Amino acid sequence: MNLLLGIETSCDETAAAVVADGRRLLSNVISSQFDIHAIYGGVVPELAAREHLRAIVPVVREALHRAGLGYRDVDAVGVTRGPGLIGALLVGVTYAKGLAASLRVPLLGVNHIEGHIHSVVLEQRAAGSDVEFPALALVVSGGHSHMFVVDRDERDSYSYRLLGRTRDDAAGEAYDKVAKLLGFGYPGGPVLDKLAPFGDPDGVPLPLTNMKGNRLDMSFSGLKTAVLRHVLGSNLHSEIEGRRELFAQGRPAIDVLQASASKECLDLIASFQRTVVRELQRRAEGAAEDELVESVIVSGGVAANSGLRKAFSSLSLPFYFPTLALSTDNAAMIAAAAYPRFLRGEFDGFDLEAQPSLRLA
Ligand code: KG4
Ligand code: ZN
Repeated sequence: MNLLLGIETSCDETAAAVVADGRRLLSNVISSQFDIHAIYGGVVPELAAREHLRAIVPVVREALHRAGLGYRDVDAVGVTRGPGLIGALLVGVTYAKGLAASLRVPLLGVNHIEGHIHSVVLEQRAAGSDVEFPALALVVSGGHSHMFVVDRDERDSYSYRLLGRTRDDAAGEAYDKVAKLLGFGYPGGPVLDKLAPFGDPDGVPLPLTNMKGNRLDMSFSGLKTAVLRHVLGSNLHSEIEGRRELFAQGRPAIDVLQASASKECLDLIASFQRTVVRELQRRAEGAAEDELVESVIVSGGVAANSGLRKAFSSLSLPFYFPTLALSTDNAAMIAAAAYPRFLRGEFDGFDLEAQPSLRLA
């Protein structure tokens, strides 16, 4: 049995996980910094790096403990090397290098976006099944909105071809910015998703974007501006101020936030969610028509969205979402993505560098 320790510190979650043979999740520990960043309405890079530094040792220790293992049982260390925040990445990469060197085990640097795709492969293999390739992969998170064709060869080696990407904000970033604007704190996706069913998705007309050039590219900044314009001409100002005051005292419960939201606010949230879901659904359907793919993978934090999950159930191809625990940032996906390269002996040296703008394709 091969035991891979995964480490993830690219943004605001310090995570460690142990995966056996690329398919069995033995532990998955995530220490989130939400409460530290919530009052700022977004991630503060310097605070993120500092918190990773504080959390990394106990998080790794806890991941080994929950797996019933000690440091000496680890066969290799996989770590996110990019893309992400430089200070945050450096903590994970530096720690992983030191750990791999002291244990004399291989080190594998992993692309975070590839990790998100592998969260689905891991869970399918854990269930004794597998994803059909070539697959269309839509990776939608706070930092990324990318669409790839993913293929795999008989050596379990994966290749990625970029079909489209956002030209401005990522889908999760749009959720976070709209939530901040409406006084719902950070991160915005989970809160807006929970409130959307209580509003009328036809309540506020919001535009869909047609892209010039590559029609599979995406854009969310126009939508964000349309929401801002609606808010400026609305009666929402005092409830927004009220919510900001609530957040200043700590994160309010969801029923408190729901009670604070007027019908106009809930309609705006429902309309926003439906527009984002439609944008993503149209791109995925367009790509699935153009490309000879056997299945569709949706991953990244926004894959946790209930509206998106419902919308994709009408696809004619097999489609896969990670479970909620593996949709947002985690280290199990990093260990899983490292595993095929571990088997092929494609290790990294101790000159491995954190790469904030690393691309997958
Ligand atoms: O993958 P992730 O944890 O971190 C990045 O790689 O960026 O994604 C976090 C993003 C945040 O923008 C968050 O608001 C969004 O995913 N998110 C959601 C939901 N849960 C998390 N967006 C919409 N609906 C959700 N249920
Ligand atoms: Zn992510």
